[in-house]
Amino acid sequence: MSIEDRSEYLVETRNLIKRFGDVIALRNVNFRVGYNEVVGLVGDNGAGKSTLVKTITGTYAPDGGEIWIKGRRFKRITPKIAKALGVEIVHQERTIAENQPIWRNIFMGRELTNSLGFLKIREMEEATMKLIKEMGFKSEIIYPGKLARTLSGGYKQGVQIARALYFKADLVILDEPTIQLSLSEVNRVLEFVKDLKKRGKSCVFITHNIYHVYPVADRFAIMDRGRIVAEFWKSDLSIEDLSNILVTIARTGTIPVEYREINLVSRPLEYASS
Ligand SMILES: Nc1ncnc2c1ncn2[C@@H]1O[C@H](COP(=O)(O)OP(=O)(O)O)[C@@H](O)[C@H]1O
Ligand SMILES: [Mg+2]
Repeated sequence: MSIEDRSEYLVETRNLIKRFGDVIALRNVNFRVGYNEVVGLVGDNGAGKSTLVKTITGTYAPDGGEIWIKGRRFKRITPKIAKALGVEIVHQERTIAENQPIWRNIFMGRELTNSLGFLKIREMEEATMKLIKEMGFKSEIIYPGKLARTLSGGYKQGVQIARALYFKADLVILDEPTIQLSLSEVNRVLEFVKDLKKRGKSCVFITHNIYHVYPVADRFAIMDRGRIVAEFWKSDLSIEDLSNILVTIARTGTIPVEYREINLVSRPLEYASS
């Protein structure tokens, strides 16, 4: 096995292709996520961001290319395999059960039961309490039995992140987690992402609002019309640079020449050792 036959990333796609009829949503996408890294996946509506992460997590079967998770290569993956390998997604479409309590939302589809098949409600409530407290939920007003619909938008994202954490995710993918949130709620989501990073986890944070992701990202991948056209370390870019680059990409499909030197596309990533 040569070096190129392995992957040193937590998740990597190679030449991933996805078509919907005549629409080519992914055109040879090479995407990678390192260990304990927050990647901001940005780009306009219709760029292919959701399709990419849904292909990585098994909702869609790709029409070509490879998906690598923790050094294992797949031609296609199922949601079950992705979860078993520690890759969890919080979809753009709301997946929270509004009329259920927090604890039920966390254990939905993966309930703890005893040998007779009865739900271990106490245990699930206690595990929920411990987790949301650690994550910084306001424990005096938010408790496991509280109905999801009574939570603010930021906390709803938090419940879905808690679900991923309980099931030992190493990578949590958030698809547009800040859409339609007020500023203080956006900040709450950013705190949850910082918490993931502190726990040694990785996160893919999808948004078309770079102001939401800039503060928490280590690296950016920019998608345009089914391609990853640029990747940058945050340390190489100010938010104004990122904004300029996106405007130019939207207009011309390519990045401004002065940033080509620091574009990481087609280069191996060298992580600073900590
Ligand atoms: N289930 C689907 N069926 C048909 N076309 C789709 C489907 N999902 C996405 N597309 C198309 O694929 C392209 C990429 O969409 P999407 O991945 O949702 O982009 P983004 O998340 O970046 O806004 C768009 O042209 C979109 O219309
Ligand atoms: Mg989307």
